[in-house]
Amino acid sequence: MLDRCLKTIGTSRLPGFHKLSMKERLLKLKEIAQLSEEDIQLLSREGPLPLEIADKMIENVVGTFALPFAIATNFLINDKDYLIPMVIEEPSVVAAASNAARMTREGGGIRAQATDSIMISQIQLVKVPSPYTAKYVILERKQEIMDLANSTNPILTKVGGGVRDVEVNVLDSPVGPMVITNLVVDVKDAMGANTVNTMAEAVAPLIEKWTGGKVYLRIISNLADRRLVRAWTRVPKDVLGGEEVVDGIVYAWAFAAADPYRAATHNKGIMNGVIAVALATGQDTRALEAGAHAYASRSGKYSPLSVWEKDGNGDLVGYLEMPMAVGVIGGAVKVNPMAQLSLKILGVKTAKELAEVMGAVGLAQNLAALRALATEGIQRGHMKLHARQLAITAGAAGKEVDVVVEEMIKRGAIRLDVAKEILENIRKNPSSS
Ligand code: MEV
Repeated sequence: MLDRCLKTIGTSRLPGFHKLSMKERLLKLKEIAQLSEEDIQLLSREGPLPLEIADKMIENVVGTFALPFAIATNFLINDKDYLIPMVIEEPSVVAAASNAARMTREGGGIRAQATDSIMISQIQLVKVPSPYTAKYVILERKQEIMDLANSTNPILTKVGGGVRDVEVNVLDSPVGPMVITNLVVDVKDAMGANTVNTMAEAVAPLIEKWTGGKVYLRIISNLADRRLVRAWTRVPKDVLGGEEVVDGIVYAWAFAAADPYRAATHNKGIMNGVIAVALATGQDTRALEAGAHAYASRSGKYSPLSVWEKDGNGDLVGYLEMPMAVGVIGGAVKVNPMAQLSLKILGVKTAKELAEVMGAVGLAQNLAALRALATEGIQRGHMKLHARQLAITAGAAGKEVDVVVEEMIKRGAIRLDVAKEILENIRKNPSSS
């Protein structure tokens, strides 16, 4: 099988591929992957992220990749109205977020607060003859460590950020004791990975020198549990459809609290909103996912990131707490014009405000999913949008799309072959539509 693949694609061993210009890379790819002229045109097409910029963002670039960019409406967060840019391939998510946001408005909107932008960078020290002597020595020189780390980023210290603390833990690992130094850093408006990694690399030689041990890893921790966002909302029961719906939502949450199989899906619903905004604003989505799920497991049992309860009045109250390591300066945010545009649409200027918006969107997205699940189920709305996609894929255009969608729903058969058949029929017999 592997042999067969290699015969059709030639070899994947392409020394110097990264040194080629994008045009040369495309020619090479065309030849090896046997692409057509249309394929190459698709790859060469200019989009909102200019090819020239894309080529500088990562390695071996041969094009850009597009996803729908949409605006969720109705969001009132901390008494301020926001238009929310979202990038996502999944139908219903944007509609659901807007719908839930409309409901939260009735109770005064969503409140959200983010903590300071505290990230942790870890330095792993092994082969230390006396781990607790090492711990003592490192902590004794805390100020020296902080000064050196801060000297790697004078701009950060100028704006009031920098190392806040140095913590040392002796860990019992499968290969013996390790001494882990955590640099606790306020990275202000950056996501902070580059900042804290640079600091850890700068400090590591000192730690080796003082302790006689050997440093291996010097890297950020994505469990950003000191960079949290908390979002809260109260939704009047009547807006939701009555007290029974409130009860259904609370039962849905309790299911997630009791069962990690459900909690994973519950949190996936939250991440639908969080990651869609993260993509639109050029964030590191993998860091956000890693942080969220590690935080959800902090008790030793994977749990929901939100809580839903009924208050004394029978109204629904929702609370979400999760890490939110996002930045508004540096990295992909700065170079990607779409990310800049998203920040402009949002009107946010600081990482904290962006984190608050994203927490609020996560909470609204969660509310939308639980309300749908606790009432009519999510498939009805979902299938309509899915049917639209199928109709378009089948080749329907203009008014044909609605006709094909309605007919598929009427038949209870939402499939591509059915969409094609209906389209063929209405084209053969236009008066029947
Ligand atoms: C689908 O993308 C997300 C949901 O499954 C979330 C949930 O079940 O809470 C609807």
